Amino acid sequence: MNDHILEKDCETILETPFLVPANRTGKFCSAAKCIYLCILLETFTFHVQGGTMALVDNILKLKADKSALILAHNYQRPEIQDIADYVGDSIELSRRAMEEKEARIIVFSAVDFMAESAAILNPKKKVLLPVLGARCPMAQMLTVEEIKRSRSQHPRTPVVLYVNTLAAAKAECDICCTSANAVEVVSSINADTVLLGPDRNLAEYVQRKTGKTVIPIPECGFCPTHLLFQPEDVQILKAQHPEAAVMVHPECTFEMKKTGDFVGSTSQMCRYAKESGAKTFIVGTEEGVLHRLRKDNPGKKFFLAYEGAVCPNMKLNTLERIYASLKEEKNVVTVPEPIAKKARKALQRMFELK
Ligand code: 13P
Ligand code: SF4
Repeated sequence: MNDHILEKDCETILETPFLVPANRTGKFCSAAKCIYLCILLETFTFHVQGGTMALVDNILKLKADKSALILAHNYQRPEIQDIADYVGDSIELSRRAMEEKEARIIVFSAVDFMAESAAILNPKKKVLLPVLGARCPMAQMLTVEEIKRSRSQHPRTPVVLYVNTLAAAKAECDICCTSANAVEVVSSINADTVLLGPDRNLAEYVQRKTGKTVIPIPECGFCPTHLLFQPEDVQILKAQHPEAAVMVHPECTFEMKKTGDFVGSTSQMCRYAKESGAKTFIVGTEEGVLHRLRKDNPGKKFFLAYEGAVCPNMKLNTLERIYASLKEEKNVVTVPEPIAKKARKALQRMFELK
């Protein structure tokens, strides 16, 4: 019965010459079954892609009907990056959200602190985070109490906070920074010592680059994804691709950053890869950025320094979840105005620097 169905399906799908590999009993031999399974698999893949295509169409239609803008971080899944209106690093996305005039809704496909910044900077828009549980663990590492304690221990010392912080923390700082501008922000401050949190690795990097004393708050804040990178992985890849240029995110450890020909934010890496004469790159940041790097540079090769470098929170966003949040306009991110007002000032001071 099964063979009969197989035969029938094969006849409809395969060209006649492919039907030759049958054994003496007239049943399909393993090779034919194999071919058939491959085709079934392809058909299945086609259906899945067809489904994805329908989902994409539905999102694009909803987006137009509801006047929505989709912003996606460089770490988002490829299919999300491909439908987004804008893909970028944390500062680019904040600026894009801040400057948006026309859209009624901003779908922010990333993690909590980025969507919060959009809501702070453009309070008239409805900001949706497709999955409210997409929370950056590093941003949770710095509490308001910790900032107040550090301020009392270091009176009159300016507090610089990485945008990877929650709104309530931002409201307690003097100025924000991102991985793209932390060195410039700290250099611009008229003080030899600053407090910087929550990323200890970024604080160490800024201290080295500016020559100022940068005190990390809390003492040991870190990104669990970037901590996975080890310099040994770069050495192994370098042995295989000696000509490769190495790009590393400042959230990586000091030892890992030492291996880098370039240290910068995710979008700065994208620009570096485009402008560099190198044809091969080893990448020390979350794997999502490889999609954009490969798309923008079809003639160049990119290797992730460590294959397991995935931010599970960033990856909570899917096309299905974007569709659901936009359809129901659910998972709205709001920041109480008294906190937003103070946090906005700290973010705006950062934007005024450029
Ligand atoms: P970028 O600003 O470089 O995109 O970094 C954001 C982030 O969360 C890195 O882990
Ligand atoms: Fe946070 Fe790290 Fe994920 Fe960036 S990669 S969102 S810092 S956990």
